[in-house]
Amino acid sequence: MRIFMILPLAVALVACSGGNGQKQSRETADLFQKVIKTAEAQIGYQVKVIEESGKILNARTTRNGHVHYIGKQDWTSGFFPGTMFYMYDLTNDSKWLEVGIKYTENLDTIKHLKWHHDVGFMIDCSFGNALRVTGNEAYEEVIIEAAKSLSTRFRPVAGVIQSWDEDRGWQAERGWMCPVIIDNMMNLELLFKATQLSGDSTFHNIAVSHADKTMENHYRDDWSCYHVVDYDKEVGGVRSKQNAQGYAHESAWSRGQAWGLYGFTVAYRYTKDQRYLDMADNIYRYIFTHENLPADLVPYWDYNAPNIPNEPRDASAAAVAASALYELVDYDRPEYRETADKIMTSLAGDAYTAIVGTNGNFLLMHSVGSIPHDNEIDVPLNYTDYYFLEALTRKMRLEGAL
Ligand code: GLY
Repeated sequence: MRIFMILPLAVALVACSGGNGQKQSRETADLFQKVIKTAEAQIGYQVKVIEESGKILNARTTRNGHVHYIGKQDWTSGFFPGTMFYMYDLTNDSKWLEVGIKYTENLDTIKHLKWHHDVGFMIDCSFGNALRVTGNEAYEEVIIEAAKSLSTRFRPVAGVIQSWDEDRGWQAERGWMCPVIIDNMMNLELLFKATQLSGDSTFHNIAVSHADKTMENHYRDDWSCYHVVDYDKEVGGVRSKQNAQGYAHESAWSRGQAWGLYGFTVAYRYTKDQRYLDMADNIYRYIFTHENLPADLVPYWDYNAPNIPNEPRDASAAAVAASALYELVDYDRPEYRETADKIMTSLAGDAYTAIVGTNGNFLLMHSVGSIPHDNEIDVPLNYTDYYFLEALTRKMRLEGAL
């Protein structure tokens, strides 16, 4: 069955062109077949290790050469189950489905999480994919309940969802009142979906308000964005525009640019509001015409990092952007496909795809969590693998191979 699923991609790609183009397409098709096989082996090992432990273990990255597992409340806990569903999409092998369901259902209580905004990532990447793949209606209630939890963080006077608590963790030292990070655009999909499932427009309206405020306040004239905008939740308006995970307040943190591109693409999917599509186009132009973007289209961790070209790359930013671009192809942007293919060809090559049995059994190497926090520098990350595999399923659908 696996061969049956993969072969049409090669055929579809090769059928597209002739001459030298045909040779390149065949090479590209071979490369993607190879990376799917690598993913089956590498992520298969990841599953074997955790299954043999007899525990529920959710891997996020590597630390000092060892796999770092995280608890349910970590913002990245939904990516491993989500990865299982994309592996199922790509291989049609039900073993991935079983693990995906088990790890998704283990996150059930997260629907009540209210102390940070990432319940959107956590529940949508797990239960959202589980619902898409299995159609199990029991998952709808989890998505709606999680959307209710996320909605408790909506600050109506400011018109935004508060990302982080102002009095918790390292964030408490920054004097913020209502910090909103660009990443929060990624949590809106849960709200849009919850309205579709429940008929309650409250979630949709909160998402639109948040997207509009982000459009108004997070972006600079060149269409790069700040990481953090702090709002006054009592009288409304912006208190400050700052940085947390990028190089400086006025720099452009690479993953943040990719979160924005993806987030506005999703906002367009659910609203068909042209302003959001225009935002995605503007962000696209910022990223892909940037003088500091390397030729392989995998950015340094910040577009303004001080020692470029001697700075770590961030494969996660590249994977998130590629996935968004494949969706934008469906919105009458065929030219974005070539850019996305180029990113994916880079990531699927030896420079970023790990040799089986290395890299903590994660698929991709060379991502960055947060350099200012001296955390996760040039490491694998579970969300890099997740968005890479999502992008790969989107690519294969575009090729008519899934
Ligand atoms: N949402 C956290 C990050 O992108 O690192």
